[in-house]
This record gives sequence, C-alpha cells and structure tokens, in this order.
Amino acid sequence: MKNILGIGAGYVGGPTMAMIAKKCPEYRVVVVDINPQRIVAWNSDQLPIYEPGLLELVQSARGKNLFFSTDIPKHIAEADIIFVSVNTPTKTFGLGAGKAADLQYWEKTAREIVKYSKTPKIIVEKSTVPVQTALAMQRILDANEAGIHFDVLSNPEFLAEGTAIRDLEYPDRVLIGSHETESGLKARDVLVNLYANWVPREKILATNVWSSEMSKLAANAFLAQRISSINSLTPFCEITGANIEEVGKAIGMDSRIGHYFLKPSVGFGGSCFKKDILNLVYLCEYHGLKEVATYWEQVVLMNEYQRTRFTRRILSAMFNTVAGKRIALFGFAFKANTGDTRESSAIRIAQELWQEHAKVVITDPKALDNARIDLKDILADIVLEPDPYQAARGSHAIAIITEWDEYRTLDYAKLYQSMEKPAFIFDGRNILKHRALYDIGFNVYPLGKPPLIHFGK
Ligand SMILES: NC(=O)c1ccc[n+]([C@@H]2O[C@H](COP(=O)([O-])OP(=O)(O)OC[C@H]3O[C@@H](n4cnc5c(N)ncnc54)[C@H](O)[C@@H]3O)[C@@H](O)[C@H]2O)c1
Repeated sequence: MKNILGIGAGYVGGPTMAMIAKKCPEYRVVVVDINPQRIVAWNSDQLPIYEPGLLELVQSARGKNLFFSTDIPKHIAEADIIFVSVNTPTKTFGLGAGKAADLQYWEKTAREIVKYSKTPKIIVEKSTVPVQTALAMQRILDANEAGIHFDVLSNPEFLAEGTAIRDLEYPDRVLIGSHETESGLKARDVLVNLYANWVPREKILATNVWSSEMSKLAANAFLAQRISSINSLTPFCEITGANIEEVGKAIGMDSRIGHYFLKPSVGFGGSCFKKDILNLVYLCEYHGLKEVATYWEQVVLMNEYQRTRFTRRILSAMFNTVAGKRIALFGFAFKANTGDTRESSAIRIAQELWQEHAKVVITDPKALDNARIDLKDILADIVLEPDPYQAARGSHAIAIITEWDEYRTLDYAKLYQSMEKPAFIFDGRNILKHRALYDIGFNVYPLGKPPLIHFGK
C-alpha cells in the first residue's frame, strides 16, 4: 500500500485528504498538523471545522485508510506523496507587510520534509502561494545532502467553504502544474491517476507550474471582482430607484456574463479572496506593473467601502445615533454553512457599531465560538446569543449579515412584537421578503433597492 501524507489539517487539508482516502482505498492517507488540539478534534466526532457532509465523510474512512497524527517526522519518512496545505496568510511584518504572502509556515514545512525524508517523494503544493513558489520549494528540497530526489507539483485547491465536500467530489476542474522534465511529467501522471479514481479525465487539466499557481490567484481575483462589481452598483440603485436584483438578473442572463456571484452583499469575506488579491497586487508591484496592481487593488477597496457603507446606512436610517440602542446582528460567519469567520464583514460591522456605542448582540448557528475570539477586545460590551428570537428581543434593529437559510423562515411578526419601535431591518444579503416585512411594521433597508419606510406618510 502506498502512503499519502497531508501536512496541514485545516479547512483545505482535512476535507481534501478525507476525500482522497475515501476515493482511493489503495492508498493509506495520514494527515498531520503542528496543532495538537486540531488533531485531537479530527480524531473525535467534534471536528475542528464545520462543513456539511464532512463528519460522515471522515467517519467513512477514519481508522481504515485515513489517520490523523502529530507525528510529523515518522509520516514524512513513510510518505510517497506529500500534499502541503499549510496556511499562507498575508504578511503582517517587514517587506510587503499587508499584501505579500507570509511563507514562513510553508518554508518550515519544506525544511521538515528535507530533514525527515529518506526516500524520493512527490511534493504537491496545495496551499495558495505566489507564482514561482514551487521553484523556491524545489530549491530548498534539492539542497538536501542525502541526494534524495523530489518532484514538486502545483495542485491548487478550488473548494469553497460551505460546499467543500460537493466541490471535492465533483470539481469543475482539477489543475495539475508540473515541470516539463521527464521526472516532472512522471510525477504529474501519478497525480492524474490518483484523481482519475473519481474525477473524469477531461476535467483534469495539466499545465506548467507557473500557470497553475497563477490560475489560482486569478480565479479568486475574478470571483471577488464580480462581487465588488455588483456591490459597486448598490448605492446607485438605492438612490435612483433601480433594483439591484433586477439588474443582476438582467445582466446575468447574458450568456457571456453568466449569473454566478451577482448577488449583492455586505462584502466578501473568508480567508482567501482578500489575501490572494493582495498577493497578486504585491507581485504586480514587485514586477513594476503599477497600473495592473492598482486595477486589482480596487476590488479590495470596493469591498471595504461596502462594509463601511452598511454601517453608515444603519446609522443614518436610525436618526444618526445608535448609542445605547440594541442592534441584533443575524449571522457572523463570512458565508452560510460554515463556522469560519476569517475576514468576515461581520467583524468590521460589529466593531463600527460598538464604536458608535450601540449594544451589539450577535447570533449565529455555527460561528459564535469564533466570534468570541474575533471580538475578544470588546467582548465585555457584546452579547453572543445562539437564539435569534432572544437576540432580537428588545432590539431597535436587526441586521442580516450571513445568508443562513434559517433566517429566511423566522417568524418576523413575532420578532417585531418583541422589538423596540420603530423597528428596523437591514438586509445585508437580500434574503428576506421585504414587502411582507414592511407590512408587519418594520422599516426595511434592502441592499441596492430604495428602503421601505413608514415615516413621512
Ligand atoms: N479555506 C479555503 O476555503 C481555501 C480554499 C482554497 C485554498 N485555500 C488555501 O489553502 C491553504 C490552507 O488554507 P486553510 O484555510 O486550510 O488554512 P488553515 O489555517 O485552516 O489550516 C492550515 C493548517 O496548517 C497547519 N500548519 C501550519 N504550519 C504547519 C507545519 N509546519 N506543519 C504542519 N502543519 C502546519 C496549521 O496548524 C493549520 O491547522 C492556504 O494557502 C489557503 O489560501 C484555502
């Protein structure tokens, strides 16, 4: 039996390795991490991350050909193929701080691979990294004194949190970048054959390494750009009476544009979009491409604008003061069906409302533990409440931040009864029935549509 090792048991490493184990019973798959609590959680039924279908997937393979461990040296030594899925956050210090990728975890991993390897291996770069990182990895690996041969492949992960299991099982494409040397192509074939266990061959795309690395950054930049593009039109619609949903539908029916990612929101979050665009911006600046860098940076700036605009709209609608007013944020995760709050717009919105001396109450079905960490500096003034009905009780306003399905079907008449009057709803995801809410008595502020308000009649 051949051995696969996954280094990094996070949102990518855990689900990806579990899927490989399930689909490739001829391989023994081990996942390691430097964080022992994470490994304990992966070995329990309280997994460290929430993802629909993940627990069932892990349970189907764990203990058979899927194992979670902290013994990194042992499993590096035994592995034939190593997938590296460690974090590559934005650098917070030194040159490129705030934009460039922080590659310290990744480089540490490369050095550990060198240290503990005794046999040749295929190293698969799954983390999202700057273009030409594989070259750096190859150089570190080739510097080993034992003369062990390593082949580095780029195989970026395109899964989206909330739909990770479906994305892994039925990917739009699997991208494999390899060096065009004899051993590089041989390594590529090993990975192609691995994925071919469940992915149709025509969806497995082979490219050179740099195209593969670039494509991951470009895909995230394009996706985020669509969100910023539709969000950029929301203030315009609110002023003019155009309806952003009608506009989104009308442009999305153009087959050249397509309908995905044209929903307005409080801004994109998640650990990847902002980080990967800023990484692209940094690379452009590094190569002297100032105009290109400015072009992509604007996608991030528009996102910041959309978040702050949401808070400002709450403030101006509520008579320019929220001081002492209870405001219930419905949702804290950066999107539905995940507990992940990294870069969630909710963090900024909660902080801005707190700065205005609002009494912020936060409810979320999966993300309150993370909210507690994200808001640790202001936690004494914030209420975390799992039950949305309790969160709304005594509030002046509800603000929908995350598009959880359960928020679509709450009893809004009941919520209204328990709130201070006049009661406001700010729908940061446009998931509610605005006219019906208005008829209940709410003053309703959708995104990209004129508000429905009871004053001035
Ligand atoms: N989260 C997503 O939706 C997503 C999607 C596609 C790609 N990616 C990319 O995948 C990579 C991982 O993202 P994530 O969200 O899974 O991050 P994460 O922070 O959830 O997981 C990374 C894990 O790596 C571990 N780690 C760090 N250094 C290590 C080392 N030297 N040895 C062993 N373990 C180590 C950390 O402890 C952590 O558990 C990033 O490059 C990210 O950009 C993420």
